Amino acid sequence: MNETELHRIDRTVKQWLKTSRDFILAKMGENLKISQKTSRKDLVTNVDKENEKLIISKIRTFAPNSQILGEEGFGDQIRQTKGWVWVVDPIDGTMNFVKQRDHFAIMIALYVDGKGVLGYIYDVVNDQLFSGGPDLGVFQNEQLLPAPENVGLRNGLISLSGPMVIHDRFNFQKVAETSSGLRIYGSAGVEMAHLLKGEIVAYVSYLKPWDFGAGKILAESLGLAVSTVDGKPLDMLSSDFVMVATVQAQQDILPIIGSNV
Ligand code: IPD
Ligand code: CA
Ligand code: CA
Repeated sequence: MNETELHRIDRTVKQWLKTSRDFILAKMGENLKISQKTSRKDLVTNVDKENEKLIISKIRTFAPNSQILGEEGFGDQIRQTKGWVWVVDPIDGTMNFVKQRDHFAIMIALYVDGKGVLGYIYDVVNDQLFSGGPDLGVFQNEQLLPAPENVGLRNGLISLSGPMVIHDRFNFQKVAETSSGLRIYGSAGVEMAHLLKGEIVAYVSYLKPWDFGAGKILAESLGLAVSTVDGKPLDMLSSDFVMVATVQAQQDILPIIGSNV
């Protein structure tokens, strides 16, 4: 895809995101219709669903031949990654959205023939948009982000899945103890935004394709390592234990996790 085409898509997606932001902010003042998906800790609201429909309708008009993977099920059943594949998480951090009305993100990714082309993580309330990809570079709003410093585990803050730390999955308590400190934000998008800014050195959690689709593109574009928890490549259509980290932090974490995978 040439640069003109990339910029055209980028401008268009940013317009969708602004529309979605206005929609979510307007809905935040109303009563939410909240329901449980798999448990009381896994929620969905009418706003998640309506925002997914809104984004998908924009994609269908703009690029009708695309496949769309949407968390709330309004997209397509995707079995192969040929052509344009959009990955949409209409609200990442729904628990934060419900409880805090803050610290959640809209995430959109575009893959072409399985390769990440453009990623978007939009912190809605704070109006911070992380966007770009391997050819455009990565931006926080209008500002080009530099590659984060290659800081190791001992000298950096780390973010891990809360339940996995509580249950000490993969020796996570040792990983947290070895780091400079543990931070848990409750939205994969927000955690990855902290990584892009160089504020934490690693994030590890069990994630679904829409949780890591955009973050993977942005993180890899800045030279961060994105893999499964045992250092293997990720399949963009599968859920997995995902590690996003500086190259050094990944090297430091893998031996601690070791045979606990
Ligand atoms: C969740 C958040 C959370 C992560 C979960 C995700 P959702 O996304 O990103 O931080 O730990 O695994 O499912 O359900 O709020 O879109
Ligand atoms: Ca999510
Ligand atoms: Ca979601």
